[in-house]
Amino acid sequence: MKKYALYLILASVMLATTARAQQIDRFFPEKDLVTTGIYYYPEHWNENQWERDIARIADMGFSFVHLAEFAWFKMEPVEGKFDFAWLDKVMTLCTKYHLKVLMCTPSATTPAWMRSDHPETFLMDGHYIRGEHGTRGLGSIVNPLYRQLVEKIVAEMAKRYGRDKNIMGWQLDNEPDAKPDYSPSSQDAFRQWLKNKYKTIDALNTAWGAAFWSQWYNDFDQVIIPNTALVGWWGNNPHALMDFKRYSADAQAEFLDFEAGILRKLISPDQFVTTNYTAVSTGSDPRRTEKLDFATYTAYPNGGADNLGDLGFRLGNSKVILFASEYFKSVGGVSGVMEIQPGPVNWGSYNPLLLPGTVRMWLYHTFAAGGRLACSYRFRQINYSAEQYHAGVIKTDGVTPSQGGEEYTQFMKEVAALRQLYKPGSKMPEKLAARSTAVLWDLENYWSIDRQKQTYQWDAWNYPVKFMELAKQLGAPVDVIPPTADLSKYRFLIIPAYEMVDSPLVKKWTDYAANGGHLIITCRTATKDRRGHFWEAGWAAPISGLIGAHVQATDMLPASGKGDILMRSSHYAWNNWADLLVPDKNTEVLATYDNQFYKGTAAVVRRKVGKGTVTYIGADTDGSDLEKSLLRDAYADAGAGAEDYPPGVYVYWRDGFYIAVNYSSATYVMNVPADAKIIIGEKNVKPAGVLVWRE
Ligand code: GAL
Repeated sequence: MKKYALYLILASVMLATTARAQQIDRFFPEKDLVTTGIYYYPEHWNENQWERDIARIADMGFSFVHLAEFAWFKMEPVEGKFDFAWLDKVMTLCTKYHLKVLMCTPSATTPAWMRSDHPETFLMDGHYIRGEHGTRGLGSIVNPLYRQLVEKIVAEMAKRYGRDKNIMGWQLDNEPDAKPDYSPSSQDAFRQWLKNKYKTIDALNTAWGAAFWSQWYNDFDQVIIPNTALVGWWGNNPHALMDFKRYSADAQAEFLDFEAGILRKLISPDQFVTTNYTAVSTGSDPRRTEKLDFATYTAYPNGGADNLGDLGFRLGNSKVILFASEYFKSVGGVSGVMEIQPGPVNWGSYNPLLLPGTVRMWLYHTFAAGGRLACSYRFRQINYSAEQYHAGVIKTDGVTPSQGGEEYTQFMKEVAALRQLYKPGSKMPEKLAARSTAVLWDLENYWSIDRQKQTYQWDAWNYPVKFMELAKQLGAPVDVIPPTADLSKYRFLIIPAYEMVDSPLVKKWTDYAANGGHLIITCRTATKDRRGHFWEAGWAAPISGLIGAHVQATDMLPASGKGDILMRSSHYAWNNWADLLVPDKNTEVLATYDNQFYKGTAAVVRRKVGKGTVTYIGADTDGSDLEKSLLRDAYADAGAGAEDYPPGVYVYWRDGFYIAVNYSSATYVMNVPADAKIIIGEKNVKPAGVLVWRE
């Protein structure tokens, strides 16, 4: 009986997933490859320029216009009085110029009457100071009145435009980021969340380890949001803080689902619902939403930081799109870029010109990684206000395309040509599929490790990204997956510093290896239970059987420290983190520490498990050569082979096309087979260059 029920559940999950995938194909037919659009804010411009601007958008090659994102003040100028006449005019113009519309809910920017008449709808910071009117994202998303006001505007919009055939879909809010909110409404909501989770106050006290420093609570009413602004980080409880992060992410996801629910009741099923998360979204968890069709991300790779080589400051950070384009596929299986920087921004530490070609290369990167939608912030550079220094695809005169604008047009023309070459049903070439790799990652583990880094050298966000980069350098297709993902389609699974585990998860990993998968597990994995407590057992005890070793101790060095690891006859420097390993009898030692007082101790071990293998990498090295070499060996041993691309050169395969982008400062000569057909670019891929070919 039980088994039967399980089959039923599995079957319905599979049906729902297939239905979702089919729906997404309806929103974005595969043969269109990618659909491009642009943010336009008619409310910023004179009405007599609207037609000129919209005609220009069409003329440049865009397919859709992104509207109304921050325009609440214009749609509801006075509470309860709605005015859509202006938006109707813009919609009519879009239809006239054959542009689709991506409509947005405006909840991120509230009108002035909201703050003056209903101050309680605003969140409070850690000093219990209310947010003020004048910027965005300061609404208290758990405040009941704020919810009511959002519900009204969203419903009014949906009633007016939800059946409009020219609307392709909706974007909810703007860059939802689960801001910490210490307002009374949020205190109540947090306590309710805790009651739902723990049921009894004793359970909370145990999970939070509240016996420490007399933190003990007699009643849920005594619990307040842990507040690092007032208590200081050391006075805070990591388990309570973890719950506050979880609550904030849940509240954010539930708020998005709330908006999506209002829309879904009123809009046509042909219109999609999505939102635009920031690429590096450290608070908001897209995987917690249930009602979005898919998630998009916003990408600003160049904020003036140093990147790869001499030209890196112009080319931007290669990891932004690399990671986001895979991670945001966790919702609905596809993704796209909702905002991409069209030139210099206004918020970088300094804002250099981009190397010509850079915007086009970023666009190709999002496309190569499977993006179905590519949109940009914004059409016209604004002549006033906080973002007046931020580039647009049109310069401040309102008519001249910027360099980024020209590159958008070039990209759109090239995509039109690629569509002509598209062949349905292409399958990923076997040599790539043989290296299919997944990187396991989720926000809870990021929060856990980021809060208690133990060494200032630990880069919690970029540590998993580094493995993604290494796998890309070796020419593997790489996905970023949650712990619940089906592992059967991956030949290699990388588990980078995944701290919080439970026994079903470790069993899942063990079964994966037993069935022929190759696991690469790194230091700091399985050190805690789901509450964030250490095991009352050896360090990382739940995986010691799986990795065939015990972690005896961990070491860290200063940045100037020179830890040395010996593997075969090569030496590798480390100073961030080192697990000292004691291998079991049948475990192979691949590398040992070669200095410090524990010279000779194992640093990397490997063992066979069933049909697969498990490699445990105990050290984090700055240069990553050790990790790369181990990954290369794992591919080689499994007969998967590997490429050797330099950092910043990424090669993808999508819909029958190979696509390469180059973020490095040197020309890279791509080894394209003699019988391959080059479609765009040339074998010598220059910095900011793109190459598209077919084999
Ligand atoms: C994004 C935001 C846009 C715009 C842009 C400027 O984070 O979503 O509305 O402000 O930054 O770079």
